[in-house]
Amino acid sequence: MSELKLLIDKLYRTSHLEKEEYTAVITHYTELSEYLFSLSSRVREASYGKDVYLRGLIEFTSCCKNDCLYCGIRRSNKNAQRYRLSKEQIINCCENGYALGFRTFVLQGGEDMHYTDDIICDIIKSIKSLYPDCAVTLSIGEKSRESYQRYFDSGADRFLLRHETANEAHYARLHPENMSLSNRKNCLFTLKNIGFQTGAGFMVGSPYQTEENLAEDMLFLEQLKPEMVGIGPFIPHKETPFGAMQSGTAELTLFMLGLTRLALPTVLLPATTALGTIHPYGRELALKAGANVIMPNLSPSDKRSKYSLYDNKIYDGDESAQNLSSLKKRIESAGYHAVMSRGDHIDFTKEK
Ligand code: 5AD
Repeated sequence: MSELKLLIDKLYRTSHLEKEEYTAVITHYTELSEYLFSLSSRVREASYGKDVYLRGLIEFTSCCKNDCLYCGIRRSNKNAQRYRLSKEQIINCCENGYALGFRTFVLQGGEDMHYTDDIICDIIKSIKSLYPDCAVTLSIGEKSRESYQRYFDSGADRFLLRHETANEAHYARLHPENMSLSNRKNCLFTLKNIGFQTGAGFMVGSPYQTEENLAEDMLFLEQLKPEMVGIGPFIPHKETPFGAMQSGTAELTLFMLGLTRLALPTVLLPATTALGTIHPYGRELALKAGANVIMPNLSPSDKRSKYSLYDNKIYDGDESAQNLSSLKKRIESAGYHAVMSRGDHIDFTKEK
């Protein structure tokens, strides 16, 4: 067996590689993917079988105070269409989602100061009292420990906050000066410490990213041990400074999903919308690489096109919750089993 395949084996057996080792396999990913996916799908099955957990995604605000250079809803994008969902509109999304069978609601939005902690906590409490059998996941950015604790005490179960890149210099090229990787990482460790099922993650093929940077992302995941990891290709948005940059590839994104499955065998790993956007079978291929979560869109249909993080985002096909039965068929045809339960991380299944 080639030396590089032996490194994949080592990751399979020990869930750890050195930085140089990660860099070497990432650099040669094309010749290693098939072998990686044979092991990563085995690990995924040992942890969660053929189950694919479905989450209802509610994109509740397209307003954001941040100015991340890659993101279509960045503050400086004067052409972005801004909207905010009221508490009633959010609850209405949950009501529709609950009827469709969803038992996890993911509230995602820009960092929008309109939603004070009081408002967020009120929304969480209302959802949890109406639907006590459901998990609530927040994806609302960087906050203080006090705020995170309040959300947790109000009943939120999970929190997604991609670290975006674990390399300081790379982080600085993707973000404005007022944002820092150290604060981002602190937020993630705080979230874990409070007791959230915590999600980190990064984009593949973001501008200026090197193989070494991706190796650093893997090492950071090993260190943080998040319960969830969101990985999708970078896709340019024309109204951003990176509008003319190239997209990341589906192939390298799939490879990073496979590595992540080996590094964190029990991780909840979504097949992301971004991957489905750049490749017609992106999400099916992601399942084969080790992913086990899909997050269909529960946002009101007249708002979906406005939550535009990148160009050509898919928002009206099988990823919409209303087309759930067709999504389920796709999952079953790929050899997997769509599951509507809360789908907690294995370490959390007996809690709360
Ligand atoms: N391409 C791909 N993903 C993006 N995100 C933001 N902008 C883009 C883009 N242009 C991702 C970020 C963020 C998540 C909500 O969406 O990783 O954390």
